[in-house]
Amino acid sequence: MCETTATVEKKKVLSCIQPSGVPTLGNYLGALKNWVGMQDEFDCTFAVADLHAITVRQEPAKLRQQIYSIYALMLALGLDPNRSTLFIQSQVPEHAQLSWILSCYTQFGELSRMTQFKDKSASHADNINVGLFAYPALMAADILLYQPDFVPVGADQKQHLEIARDIALRFNRLYGDVFTVPEPYIPRAGARVMSLQNPTKKMSKSDPNPNGYVSILDDRDTVIRKFKRAVTDSQTQVCVGEGKDGVNNLIGIYSAITGKSEEEIAREFEGKGYGDFKLAVGETVADALAPIRTRYNELIADKKQLEVYYREGALRAERVARKTLCKAMKKVGFVL
Ligand code: TRP
Repeated sequence: MCETTATVEKKKVLSCIQPSGVPTLGNYLGALKNWVGMQDEFDCTFAVADLHAITVRQEPAKLRQQIYSIYALMLALGLDPNRSTLFIQSQVPEHAQLSWILSCYTQFGELSRMTQFKDKSASHADNINVGLFAYPALMAADILLYQPDFVPVGADQKQHLEIARDIALRFNRLYGDVFTVPEPYIPRAGARVMSLQNPTKKMSKSDPNPNGYVSILDDRDTVIRKFKRAVTDSQTQVCVGEGKDGVNNLIGIYSAITGKSEEEIAREFEGKGYGDFKLAVGETVADALAPIRTRYNELIADKKQLEVYYREGALRAERVARKTLCKAMKKVGFVL
C-alpha cells in the first residue's frame, strides 16, 4: 500500500453577526457557542456585519461602540484569531464591490419577496431605503467572497441564504464555476432559548421586559435574579412536559450548558422544587458567562490590542476576498 501525504483540506464556514447590541443567552446558546466549536472542524471566517447595520438609521457614536463591543465579544467567547479569520465587514471593501456586481444579477421581484424586507419596511416606514432593499445582495457578497461550504444561520436568515445560493447558481450558469454554492449549516444541538417571562416567545434583547432575557454580559447577581423570576407553571415536577413551556425552556438551557440529558436533569432534581431548580440554572448560567465577561472587559479596555486583531483579520479576509472579486470582475468583462 502506498502512503498518501495529501492533507485533507478542511471545509470552510462563514457567518456574520450584526453589531446591534450585546447578544443574549439565546444568541449564545443558539449560535455563537456553535461558532466556537466549529473552529476545530472547519476553516472559519466570522465577521461583524456593520455595513448591514446602516440599513436602519444608527447613531454614529453608538454604532462605533457596538462594533468594538461585538468584535471584543467574539474574541471573549473563544473565537480564536490564530485559527479563524475574524474581521469587520466595512474594512474589507470587496464586500461593497461584489455586492454591486451581484445586485445586477438579482431581480427586483425576488428582493420584493424577502420577508425581512417586508417586516422592516413596516417597522421603519419612514426610511425604506435602497440599502434595506438590496441587503440580500450584500449578504450574498459576504458569503460568496469566501467560497464557504457551510453557512450557519438562524431561521430568520434562511431566506437570505437561499437567495445567495440562487444568485451563485445564476452567476455560475452564465460564467462557469465562479462561486461555491453554500449549504446551510444546521447545528447538531442548537438550543432554541425562549423568553424567561413569556416562554412561548423567543428570547430577544428587544423584549421591553428586561427580565425576559439574559444578556451575555449580565453580572452574576442579575443572571441569578432573572432566573429566580423565570415564569414556570402550577405543577411541581422538574421534567419536560406539555404545558410546561417555562420549565422546558429552563431544562433546555441547563442541558445546553452542562451537556446533561433531559432524563439526567429530571433525576438530578427529583423531589426538589422549582425554586431550587431555577437557582441551579441561574448559577450554572452565571458560572458559564463569568469568564466571558472578565475576558471581554480586558479586551474592550485595550483598544490598541483590539485594533491589532481586527486589522490583521481584515488583511487575511481581504486576501481571500480579492481573489474571488477579481475572478467575478474578469468574468463580467471588466478590465483588470
Ligand atoms: N443578515 C445577518 C443577520 O442579520 C447577518 C449577516 C450579514 C450574515 N452577512 C451575513 C449572516 C453572511 C450569515 C452570512 O443576522
